[in-house]
Amino acid sequence: MWQRKVLAFLGAAFVAGTWFAYRGADTGGSADAQVRRGMDVWQANNCVACHQLYGLGGYMGPDLTDVITMRGDAHVRAFVQHGTQRMPAHPLTEAELDDLVAFLAWVDASGQGRVPDSAVHWTGTFILEP
Ligand code: HEC
Repeated sequence: MWQRKVLAFLGAAFVAGTWFAYRGADTGGSADAQVRRGMDVWQANNCVACHQLYGLGGYMGPDLTDVITMRGDAHVRAFVQHGTQRMPAHPLTEAELDDLVAFLAWVDASGQGRVPDSAVHWTGTFILEP
């Protein structure tokens, strides 16, 4: 029966396509306990309402994927604790700030927020600089 062959082919194509799409999905290793607590701080304070990670999230504030390398952790702590005219202050404990910075450093090591057009491959993926 030719229908079975078509089904088998479609099944194999699906598996191969899925493997192809996810094969390079390296998130930089598994997160440790501090990073996980930092993610809880990030979520509990709804930072994503205004900020993006990996380009996803609210657009009131800037993307924070690379903020640790671009600005450093003292800058992040100051913004979160004191806020600005446009960003509300978030009075966190020192421990929560440490966890939050660890989470953002982990995100930073795992991807890039601002992808230059020159790095975008025709398949829609992007090539990291060597
Ligand atoms: C109500 C929206 C809002 C929320 C909620 C918010 N932010 Fe912001 N954030 C902003 C805006 C707007 C800016 C830009 C502020 C400015 O330039 O005055 C900003 C700036 C920052 C910056 C500086 C970025 C840079 O490139 O200099 C950091 C770091 C930051 N926010 C972290 C956080 C974290 C962490 C949280 C959650 C605890 C958070 N923000 C919650 C709106 C927000």
